[in-house]
Amino acid sequence: MKEKLNAIKEQAIAQIEAVSAQSAQALEKLNDIRVNYLGKKGELTALLKGMKDVAPEERPKVGQMVNDVRTEIEQVLEKATEKMKRAALAGRLSGEKIDVTLPAKMNVIGHRHPNTIALEEVERIFVGMGYEVVEGPEIEKDYYNFEALNIPADHPAKDEQDTFYITGDILLRTQTSGTQVHELEKGRLPIRMLAPGRVFRSDEVDATHSPCFHQIEGLVVDKGITFADLKGTLAEFARELFGEETKVKFRPHHFPFTEPSAEMDVTCFKCGGSGCRFCKGSGWIEILGCGMVHPHVLEMSGVDPEEYTGFAFGVGLERIALLKYEIDDMRLMYENDIRFLKQF
Ligand code: DAH
Repeated sequence: MKEKLNAIKEQAIAQIEAVSAQSAQALEKLNDIRVNYLGKKGELTALLKGMKDVAPEERPKVGQMVNDVRTEIEQVLEKATEKMKRAALAGRLSGEKIDVTLPAKMNVIGHRHPNTIALEEVERIFVGMGYEVVEGPEIEKDYYNFEALNIPADHPAKDEQDTFYITGDILLRTQTSGTQVHELEKGRLPIRMLAPGRVFRSDEVDATHSPCFHQIEGLVVDKGITFADLKGTLAEFARELFGEETKVKFRPHHFPFTEPSAEMDVTCFKCGGSGCRFCKGSGWIEILGCGMVHPHVLEMSGVDPEEYTGFAFGVGLERIALLKYEIDDMRLMYENDIRFLKQF
């Protein structure tokens, strides 16, 4: 019996050692060994079952021996399992090791578009003067884009603004001025509104043109509004946008929906008005169109021109952004090249 037990013990330990030497699935194999020797159907259990053949006075001694062998195998198994787990952990840790000296990957961070920055600046200035920011539709009826703005069917201004027509009567707006009409029709007076948005013209793309660009429309209608209000407001706008030293100049112009009409120039913020390459030597830069709302426009939208007067203006947003940030090609504004955008 003793020899048999010793043989079992040695065999078990030899197997445990052999398995411990290999790493793959070694833990599973160790478990197999445990089952083989110590399990319910294992060899030691079988020996205990054979106890009935042992003389009764021998039984306690043999039982003790079996238990000693069991304990010893258990201890060797335990140690081998421990060692193997530690080795597996060490292997995993070294595999997952992070090299903190490696250079980090650069994340590309988004930037606000110069158009957005310029628009927010313009909105801030006018909201500060009590204006409300509104939006008009980009798909518009001919009536709102032209007719209600005093541009009848045969008017040359209709040809000047090469229009994308959707049907004979529906078009992509060529200007934000139609928003004036929508606001007037609401019949809520007085009005102090700023209407930024996209406009569309079938222009070829080049450094100063794009088939889609942005305008900001302004409209004030109240009792007793005069050209002096227009001048004061727009001069203040120019000073806030381009600096306290900025001077403005109004040149007579023509727009069908305003009378009188003007274009406003500001002193070149690069040279201060003495003339440079930026302002093509003139010292002045044109930034917007404006005028007193034509009585006919007020009348068509149901506002009595005898009681109310107003002024309007239209600013090209890209133009403001290009000037403010000294960008010399409008195409850059639409390419979303992060190298360009991250400069703002
Ligand atoms: N809508 C004009 C254009 O696209 C710009 C403009 C000029 C708007 C004068 C106005 C204005 O409100 O008073 O060229």
